[in-house]
Parts: sequence; structure tokens; C-alpha cells
Amino acid sequence: MVAGVHIPVLDDVDPGVALTAVIEHGAAFIKRPGTTLFDFREFTEALMVPMVHHATNTIERDPVGADPSTSTVNKGMDAIPLHREGSYAPGCPDLLVLYCERPAAAGGETVLCDGAELLRRLDESTRTYVCDLDLYWSWEATPARWQQTFGVTDVAQARVALARVGSLLRPYERLDGDFQGDVLHGRFRTKAVIPSKSGVPSFCNSLMIYAYREKSDYYARDSFRVALADGSPFPADLLAEIREVAETVSVRVSWEPGNLAVFDNSRFMHGRTGFDDTGRRVLIRMGHLRNQ
Ligand SMILES: [Fe+2]
Repeated sequence: MVAGVHIPVLDDVDPGVALTAVIEHGAAFIKRPGTTLFDFREFTEALMVPMVHHATNTIERDPVGADPSTSTVNKGMDAIPLHREGSYAPGCPDLLVLYCERPAAAGGETVLCDGAELLRRLDESTRTYVCDLDLYWSWEATPARWQQTFGVTDVAQARVALARVGSLLRPYERLDGDFQGDVLHGRFRTKAVIPSKSGVPSFCNSLMIYAYREKSDYYARDSFRVALADGSPFPADLLAEIREVAETVSVRVSWEPGNLAVFDNSRFMHGRTGFDDTGRRVLIRMGHLRNQ
């Protein structure tokens, strides 16, 4: 139990009930014995228009079956710091849904952090600083990534898809992107604190994963960079302070086969603890709400 954070535990795989819980509380767990991969797909299809993560079919994630919108989570076994999925680019998913086929023998817990409660608990001066702060992400997307994202194979088609991305931008976002050869170079402005689906502001971003996760085969850290408007990094001492508070509002999910976790990607940040069991299998689907 974490004071100020309530994640309901539901005993049925009902999209309407789950969505109501996620809008109000930011997240929900579904624990119904015998829930299958088919149930997971049906449930998520009802809730959202699924999207394909840009790292699917790279070394980082494997698709599950013929449809790349269901994939493994990041294949490393290292601990992953808190982050907001896809927060460095426009159109990032509204919802994330995780499904456990097989937990790790030890460790490998998913960590969920309520960014709304985190924001409330920050010192007033820190809260004021982050509440109006713009973040600038810059990145390069190789063909393997933009082909997954746009569902196209050549640069000309990708340019058309890129032009359409403007309709996905939130009022506080801006994207400048262009191809140099077959590599897409992007610069994306967003906020450190964003409105959640219920409207409450949330410290929900990827500053911590960028600062604290080492580059590896499964994490292309060098392909993404974040800075403030003047090009300087987010202050390391402030981020350390925020990380300490984040630990006090984070919930560790001890997986059992068939369990689901659903959360608002504009309120809850997620990460995981490390493990060394190669049999851990947690799958993910993400997407945009159908009713919006
Ligand atoms: Fe993630």
C-alpha cells in the first residue's frame, strides 16, 4: 500500500469497468485466473486502437504472432528506470496494457509510479519549476524504426505520414522532423508535467530513464537526447530529489500468470526491477483510446 495511491484490483476482464477505473485512478490491475492471450487481445481491442512500438522487430522487442501491435516488453533483464512510453515523439500511446504469461522466478516486477501524486509531494519550489518546463527531445530514427511507426517502406511515403503527424500534436507540443538520406531526424518539444486523462496534472516524462539507464543492446540511449530550451540538461540534483520522492509513490507489481495491468500513459510512469530468469514473459499492447 502506498498512501495517496490507489490502484483498483478488478476480477473481470471488462473493458468498460477497467477504463472507468483507469480514468479515475490512473491504473488498474485485473486478476482473473485463466485469462489467456486471446482475452488480452480482445480486451485491448475493445479499449483502444492498437499501435506498433517503433522498437518491435528490432533487437529490442519481438512481435507476438503475425500482428506486431502485440510484442514482448524490452528484452533486456536489467532494471529499467521510470519513464513515459514514447514521450519523446508525437502521438504517444494513451494506454499501456501489460499481460503476464510467465513471471520471473525472482525480481522482474513492473514498477508503476503515479506522477500526479509524485507532483503533489514535491517541494513547492521544485513543483513550480517543473510545472511550466518545456523539454526538447532530439533523435534519429533509422529505417527499421520509422517503417514500424508509419507502416510504410520508403522515404517518400514516410514524408507523407510525417506531414500527417501534426494532427496528433497536443497544444504544448511541437515537432520538427526531416530526412537526411534514409534517417529521420526529429526535434520534439513537450512538457515535463502534462494533463492526465482525468485532467489532473502529472509529472509524467522520460527524464529518469534517460538519466539513469545505461546504453545496451536493448536500449538505444544514444539515439535519444533531452535538453531544456537553452540546450542545458535537466538539473541532476533536482532529478535525484524527484527520483527519491518517486520511490515513495511507486507500486511494485508482483506478477502471476494471466494478470493484467492497465494504466494511463499520461499519468503513471513505469519501469521494472532487474531479474536473471530468461523465462520471464510479459507482453505489451499500447494505443489510443477508441472513445476519443
Ligand atoms: Fe516502457
